[in-house]
Order: sequence, then structure tokens, then C-alpha cells
Amino acid sequence: MLQNETPAASLPTAEDGAQAPRLSAADAALLRHSVRRYRDTPVTDDEVRTLLTLTGRAPSAFNLQPWRFVVVRDQGTKDQLRDAAYGQAQVSGAPVLIVLYADMEDTMSHLDEVVHPDLPADKKAATVAMLENTFGGMPPEARAVWANAQANIALGYLLLIAKSEGFDTSPMLGFQADQVKALLSIPAHATITALIAVGRGDVDGFRSHRHAVDRVATFR
Ligand SMILES: Cc1cc2nc3c(=O)[nH]c(=O)nc-3n(C[C@H](O)[C@H](O)[C@H](O)COP(=O)(O)O)c2cc1C
Repeated sequence: MLQNETPAASLPTAEDGAQAPRLSAADAALLRHSVRRYRDTPVTDDEVRTLLTLTGRAPSAFNLQPWRFVVVRDQGTKDQLRDAAYGQAQVSGAPVLIVLYADMEDTMSHLDEVVHPDLPADKKAATVAMLENTFGGMPPEARAVWANAQANIALGYLLLIAKSEGFDTSPMLGFQADQVKALLSIPAHATITALIAVGRGDVDGFRSHRHAVDRVATFR
């Protein structure tokens, strides 16, 4: 299993001992696309831990890291989640479904966890006080929106890292959040950022189509 600061060179190998081919960030960006049909090939807990460890390297404002994950591989639960996701087949057809959510209330209750451990005690206490002041004055709904924006950074990381590590994904926002929360005991105040099917694709999926840079960027 990875530790937070493990250098990439010592990442674990695939189940059969072979080093999984790694794609650069650029190659993963070019090659990834949503895949909605998956092979039975298992995705191990160690592989999921690697994906989530690397995903956790995502930056977030104040380093609050408000993202949380539920990793679902139980078939009965995935079948129920598929029903909550308008019958989208990839929810139950992929070996692993990751439910990514943002929980700002959990974050607020554990602010000491996000303060850099190298800070002296007085600076740690001042940082916690500053964060309590900044976010404590916001309505919980506004905090939740803010946290979900941070969790979307983790979503982007996860999709790219999964491709780089040899997996296909299907991110989804088409689901009934209340049902997903009830099935997985996710707190009502949390925001579900996305469901992400993860596995090895059985089909190529659609070729991605994107705006040209000049359509979306100006250079001044
Ligand atoms: C946040 C998010 C939510 C999405 N929701 C769904 C969904 O519910 N169902 C689905 O089939 N695709 C969903 N997609 C996939 C998009 O349609 C897809 O990413 C987009 O068309 C670009 O295609 P590509 O991922 O193949 O490159 C979602 C993608 C994102 C990033």
C-alpha cells in the first residue's frame, strides 16, 4: 500500500507481478474517454488505493481536501445504485464503482488534520482559528458548494490518473443523490460530486471530441 509521500518509482506492480504500463499525463489526457462497458477483470483493493492515493495529491484551497470516497464492489449494492442512476449499465457493470463526495462538515470537525504538521503549535492554532472563522461564518449550504468545487479537482485527477495507471472510467452525474446517500449511509449534508465506474474497458467508447484552443482561450 502507498504512503502519502511514496515516490512514483516505488508504486506497486500489477497483480501478476508485471509492471503496469504507465502513461504520461499528456498521453492519458489524449487517450482517456468515457467507457461504459467493462470486462470482468478485477480491480484489486491495492490498485484502488493507488488510484486514491494519487488522487489525494490534488490541490485544494487551504489544503482542506474535503473529498471523500466510497469504493463499491458488492454486486447487490451496485445493482441498487444502478437503479438510483437511471439504470446506467456501467454503474453495476464495472468491477468497481467509486462514489466521490464532498463533506465540508467532516472537514470542519477535523481542521487540525489539514494544518501542515511542520508548523509550530501557535501557528497551527492560528491557522485552525482562521479556517473556523472563514468557513464558520458561511451558511452550511454555501460551504457545501465550495467543498464540491474542491472535490471536482479530485475528480479530474482521478480520471486522468486512472487512465495513466491502465484503467478506464465513466464519470456520472446522472443519479438521484438522495437515493445514493441512503444506500451508502453518506451524510445528508454531503454533496455527491460524481459516481465513477472503474475497470478495464470492453469496448473503445466514443472518440472524444473537444473544442480547439482558440475557441476557448484568448492570449493577450
Ligand atoms: C461530471 C461529469 C458527469 C457526467 N455524467 C455522465 C452520466 O451521468 N452519464 C454518462 O453516460 N456520461 C456522463 N459523463 C460523461 C460525459 O458525457 C463525457 O465525459 C463527455 O461527453 C466527454 O466524453 P469523454 O469522457 O468520452 O471524453 C459525465 C462526465 C462528467 C465529467
